[in-house]
Order: sequence, then C-alpha cells, then structure tokens
Amino acid sequence: MTDRKRVRIHHFADMKARGEKIAMLTAYDTPTARIFDAAGADILLVGDSLADNILGFDDTSAVELDDMIPFARAVSRGASAAFVVADLPFGCYEISPEQAVASSIRMMKLGGPNAVKFEGGRRVARQVKAVTEAGIPFMGHLGFTPQSENALGGRRIQGRGDGALEAMLADAVALQDAGAFAIVLEMVIEPVATAITRELSIPTIGIGAGPHTDGQVLVWLDMAGVGDWHPSFSKAFGSVGSHLHGAAADYVNEVKRGTFPGPEHTFST
Ligand code: KIV
Repeated sequence: MTDRKRVRIHHFADMKARGEKIAMLTAYDTPTARIFDAAGADILLVGDSLADNILGFDDTSAVELDDMIPFARAVSRGASAAFVVADLPFGCYEISPEQAVASSIRMMKLGGPNAVKFEGGRRVARQVKAVTEAGIPFMGHLGFTPQSENALGGRRIQGRGDGALEAMLADAVALQDAGAFAIVLEMVIEPVATAITRELSIPTIGIGAGPHTDGQVLVWLDMAGVGDWHPSFSKAFGSVGSHLHGAAADYVNEVKRGTFPGPEHTFST
C-alpha cells in the first residue's frame, strides 16, 4: 500500500500540460505491481510482452485474451495508486468494432484494469471509437507494433523515409480523434516522435523513441536487469537477475549443507 493519491485518467493531460513526465512500467503479477506502485510509477502496463518475458514464447502472437486476464487481475490487485492498462492481444480486436468492444468489456470486467491498449492507427480507428464510446479508456500503440512484426518485416525502427512522419501523424491524430487518452510510440526515430508529441493534445509515451515524448515505458525485466541482455534503447537500472541467482544459490547451498533450516526456523514443540 502507498499513501499516494490514485492516478486518474484526467491526470495525464494535466501532466502533459505542465511538462511532468509520465513514468510507465510493465507489470505482470501482484508483488511487482506493489513494488512499482510504491516506487511511484504512474501507469502499470499488463503488456502482451508477458508472452515472451513470462511465458517463454518467441513473440507476443501466441497469447490469447483469456491468457491475459489473470495477469491483469493480479496487477490490478497490487496497484493501489497507479493506473493499470491491459493489452488486448493479437486476434481479439482487428475484425470489427463489435469484436473490440466485446474483448475490451471482457478484459475490464474480469481483469479489472482502468484502460485497455491495442495496436494500430487509422486501420483500428473505428474500433477505438467504439471502445471509448462504450466508456472504456483507451491507450494507442504506434511505431513498431510487435503484433504486426511479420507485416513490418521484423523488429525495425519506424519513422524513417519519405512520408513516414505524415503517415504516423495521421495515425496518431486518428487515435486522438477516436478518443485515445495517450499513445505509446515504440522504436520511432527521435524527430518523428518529437514532432508527433508536439502536434498531439494527448500525451505520448515512448519506448525507444528518444527523450522528448511526454512519458517513458520499459519492460520491467529490462529496467531491472533480470536477463543478461536488454534492447539498446533500454537501460538496466539494477541487476536483479544476479541478485536472485545469488539468493537461490545460497539457499541451495544451505539446504545441501544442512545449515538451513536452523533452530530459529524450527518448531521444536
Ligand atoms: O507489451 C508491452 O510490454 C508493450 C510495451 C513494450 C509498450 O506494449
């Protein structure tokens, strides 16, 4: 529990207006949600990145809406102040506005987040409008959109080339007009991300999009240094992986040597 005031949807526009950066992190379970909430994160994202970061898949495409729901529920239980956003995974919103609304309602009712996010610009604007008109807050996601990795030709930096700024800006404006309250810009070259941030009235949240977006997001395992690799745009602010390895190795050693449990861990009567 923290004594912070709960972050509400209207706070993000206020933060953009006064130039206060929005700090967002992914979270997939209750203990990490509690820690990141207490650390002051404004938004916790139950990303479909849990497919590769938690469930061991190669990419995000395998995960289903109903796979995401228990993770969203767990994070929502752990967040006492942070605003929780849950991803709709590949395949549960693209077909029609009706499909997007049904999936969003299912996520909101069973997962308990404050908002949903899905990927795409003008091609999903009808879906976004239907979702926001159903009373569900929506966050957009442009630039490198992992669910379209095959169509994009791999993990490629976005915003390069003639017409790229105009196209991404048209997507961003379509999302804003459809009611999005914020947009993630992933792996977008800095001048394009900066220009889009300047043009929009809603905040942008960058990941690999330079320092001039209205906020930043990282996958928490990259942020905390859980693995020994992280993307070049990311930064490991800790070395949680080696600390966890150390604790597990000490435990294994003490069990093998018979020094754990000691008398203080034992019920003798
Ligand atoms: O799924 C995810 O973690 C995301 C972030 C990388 C923005 O969408």
